[in-house]
Amino acid sequence: MRKGIVILGIFVADAAFRASRQPKIGETILGSGFALGPGGKGSNQAVAAARAGAPVTFITRLGVDAFADMALSLWKDAGIAVLAEQDPASYTGAAYIFLDENSGNNAIIVAPGAAADVSPADLEAHRDAISSASIFVTQLEQPLEAAVRGLEIAKQAGVTTILNPAPARALDRSVLALCDYLTPNESEAEILTGLPVTTVDEAKLAADRLMEMGAGAVIITLGDKGALYRTTTASVHVPVFSAGKVVDTTGAGDAFNGGFAAALAEGMDPIDAVRFGAVLAGISVTRAGTAPAMPSRAEIDALITASRDR
Ligand code: RIB
Ligand code: NA
Repeated sequence: MRKGIVILGIFVADAAFRASRQPKIGETILGSGFALGPGGKGSNQAVAAARAGAPVTFITRLGVDAFADMALSLWKDAGIAVLAEQDPASYTGAAYIFLDENSGNNAIIVAPGAAADVSPADLEAHRDAISSASIFVTQLEQPLEAAVRGLEIAKQAGVTTILNPAPARALDRSVLALCDYLTPNESEAEILTGLPVTTVDEAKLAADRLMEMGAGAVIITLGDKGALYRTTTASVHVPVFSAGKVVDTTGAGDAFNGGFAAALAEGMDPIDAVRFGAVLAGISVTRAGTAPAMPSRAEIDALITASRDR
């Protein structure tokens, strides 16, 4: 049997408001659209990987409420195995998403709710599931200590580790050393290194810095400039795969990370896996929402075939 992906992360309900700009403090402005749907970086990545065809197990915490029901039905539809405690004394989190109606770009406030209580003990409780996976993936929306314990358990078992360091925060060398792949976006790479990351060349310098700081290999996602894959011996710039008009870039990084992990789990080499992740991201930005924007394997394969024929 193919070994799967274990993802530690959070689910939140995304409340996405479309408007021409963000309001100032004390101000009310009219928006031009609203949607409520499933989000949270880890859950989005799990959905992306599962729709791409990978066996996925998701570790998290939820409340006992309507948003938890939204999460459970999302994961059931996607065929994701769930290891989640539900805490009636807390709540399932939510994200305020401002969507720029002109560019499709976003700004986010995320309140993790019950997922803020994910602890190292939760990861210990699922040591067997993590140790028998082929890939372990996490982000930084749940507490750092939990992410670190998951990475440690995976590393000890020889499981490939991916840390998507989002939202950004400074990380110790001891944490970066647990990451086979570190996958920041431009602004996260800037916060981690203190270096500017606005061009592919700057991204190369930041990636080198992150490897000096302990990361195994680095992939910096660069928005409309694609992604940079860099190891001590390889450096590949993968351009964006365009699948149509960009309407909503929220969750594009999650599409990339889920797709990258799914491709690695299938045994693709890392450079092809980066291209595969970029295809998922390219499709996701043409659709509204985050988890709902993740493509099926058939859609992914069709874009790969079309871009070869171009
Ligand atoms: O990466 C996008 C996600 O970040 C959104 O779904 C939102 O919930 C925030 O967690
Ligand atoms: Na989207």
